Amino acid sequence: MFSPLYRSTKLRSAMSIPGRTRNALLCLSVPLAIVLTVVGGVAARAATGPIAILGVASETRTLLPHLTHRKNVVVLHVPYVTGVLNGVPVVVARSGVGKVNAAMTATILIGHFHPACIIFSGSAGALNPNLQPGDVVIGAKTAEHDFGTLYSTGMSHEPTDGIAERKQNPMYFPANPRLLKAAELAASRMHEEPIDVGSGPHTPRVVVGTIVTGDVFVADQNTNDALRKYFHADAVEMEGAAVAQVCWEQNVPFLAIRSISDNANRQTPTMFDKFYKLAARNSARLVMAIVQIYSTKPASY
Ligand code: ADE
Repeated sequence: MFSPLYRSTKLRSAMSIPGRTRNALLCLSVPLAIVLTVVGGVAARAATGPIAILGVASETRTLLPHLTHRKNVVVLHVPYVTGVLNGVPVVVARSGVGKVNAAMTATILIGHFHPACIIFSGSAGALNPNLQPGDVVIGAKTAEHDFGTLYSTGMSHEPTDGIAERKQNPMYFPANPRLLKAAELAASRMHEEPIDVGSGPHTPRVVVGTIVTGDVFVADQNTNDALRKYFHADAVEMEGAAVAQVCWEQNVPFLAIRSISDNANRQTPTMFDKFYKLAARNSARLVMAIVQIYSTKPASY
C-alpha cells in the first residue's frame, strides 16, 4: 500500500513513456488492472484517500487545532472533519463510546472517504500491571473480549463472524505491518517529559502490546485479571477491535493507539477523571508522529 503522494509520482512517470511502448504497456496493464481491482477490492480504492484518525471524544479535540484547511462534512448524520495535518490530508472523527458507535463511524468513513488507513487514538484501562497513567500501548493486535458464549461456568471467548467476503474473522486482528513499523519508529523518536502520576515522577513509556475491546467500562480487579490471563492483554477499551473488525473485512490498514488513563479496577472512576486528558494528549501526540512517517515512501523507514 502506497501513500497518495507515492502513487501519484509513479502514475506521472508512466504518462511520460513514448507512443508504441506505452500502447504495449497499456495492453498489458488493462487485464492486470482488472485482476488487481477484483482481487484488491476496496483496498485498491482505499489507498487513494486521506489518513483517517478516530478518537472517542477529547482525543479528536486535541488533534483538531493542528489541522489546516478544515472542513466539516456530515455523512449519514455522522460528523467528520477533513483537513491537512502537517502537510498530510486527513479525515478526523469522533467514534463516540462503544463498539456499535465506533463500527458505524468507521464503516461510513470507509464508504465515503476511502481512507488510505485508519488509526484509532484513545485512552484505556491498564491490564498489564507495569503500565502507568500516560504510558502508551501500540496495539500489535486487538480482540473483542465480550464476544462468545456465556455458560454457567463462565464466558467462552470466540472469534467474530465476518459478513464481508472474508467470512471467518481471527480471534485477534493484527495491526497493519506498515502502520506498526511507522508507530515503532515514531515512538523511538518521542521524548516525553516526566510527570507525577501519584507515585513520584514517571516518564511515560510506549510499549507494543495487545488491546482488548468490549462494551463495558472495566472497574473490577477480577475482570482485569481474567482478561489479562486469557488474552495476555495490556490494555482494555471499548472501541478498538470493533474498528479493527470493520477494517479487516474491508481491507483497510488499521492501527490502535491507546494511552493509559486508569487501572481497570476499583480505583478506575477517580483515576479516569484525573488522567483521561493526559492519556488523550499522549496518544494523539504519537498518532500525529505516525501520520508523518506513514505518509512518506514506505522504503524510507
Ligand atoms: N477506557 C479507559 N479506561 C477504560 C476501562 N477501565 N475500561 C474500558 N474502557 C476504558
